[in-house]
Amino acid sequence: MSKINIDLVKNMFNLQGKVAIVTGGAGALGETICEGLALYGADVVVTGRTMKTLEEAVKKIEKHGRKGVAIPCDVTREKDVEALVEKVKAQFGKIDILFTVAGIAKRFPAEDFPVEDFDQVMNINVRGTFLSCKHVGRVMKAQGHGKIITISSVRGFCGHPGGYAAYGASKAAVDLLTKQLATEWAKYNITVNAIAPTIFWTPLTQQVLEDEKLKKIFLDRIPMGRAAVPEDMIGASVYFAAPASDFITGQILYVDGGCTAG
Ligand SMILES: NC(=O)c1ccc[n+]([C@@H]2O[C@H](COP(=O)([O-])OP(=O)(O)OC[C@H]3O[C@@H](n4cnc5c(N)ncnc54)[C@H](O)[C@@H]3O)[C@@H](O)[C@H]2O)c1
Repeated sequence: MSKINIDLVKNMFNLQGKVAIVTGGAGALGETICEGLALYGADVVVTGRTMKTLEEAVKKIEKHGRKGVAIPCDVTREKDVEALVEKVKAQFGKIDILFTVAGIAKRFPAEDFPVEDFDQVMNINVRGTFLSCKHVGRVMKAQGHGKIITISSVRGFCGHPGGYAAYGASKAAVDLLTKQLATEWAKYNITVNAIAPTIFWTPLTQQVLEDEKLKKIFLDRIPMGRAAVPEDMIGASVYFAAPASDFITGQILYVDGGCTAG
């Protein structure tokens, strides 16, 4: 006979008392995730490269009555990531949740793709995600729990004529890194999952938005017929950060209006 733990069920989406780090937290999706986590009770450390934009994001977290802390960090630099983790440990004594949101997109026809741009995309999207997970993962291993959420993309699942050779490859790498870490770290009670959104209108996708032909190609591929909105991202983010997803690891959740279903 099954017995429900009423307390657990009632608090399945409660993030009260949790400490989260969000890389790329001052970007469009990063800021949305920070606000979502704060609304469900978490204190949030916002990281990125520019202090001024981080401070703006902190104000939005504090608006929801939670603690927000801005710590600059370039995720491609291991020393920066180590320093970030030390500062968070010193201030909060633990790290419950990590979101790796820092990322860039560059689009060129594959045959003309400048190798410097290819390397930059891989460096930020793959190396940056790996370094963030590596150093936060150490803390989570030592404390015996943690929730890591990487941000992938539908472009890691299927190709697209829009010039995504580097971006698509980088997000496919994020997907497999997610599964790899999930299998390695399950024994430490760390879950590692990816959220793979379709298009949101943010500075990262501005180029697509401004190109009517490309915009139509994108929207035609989404059965629900629209781009994602911030609230779509918050639902998935809170789910993976909260106890509701405790037995779920190594998964890639497509927030895509059915795009990858067809
Ligand atoms: N916008 C979309 O439609 C969409 C769709 C699928 C996936 N994504 C992914 O979501 C994530 C966020 O995208 P966004 O649309 O919010 O873009 P954005 O450009 O608004 O935000 C990205 C953030 O990452 C930061 N960043 C870049 N390089 C960094 C580095 N080396 N160190 C630290 N921070 C760095 C940027 O400063 C920025 O704040 C990215 O990983 C992107 O690939 C976005």
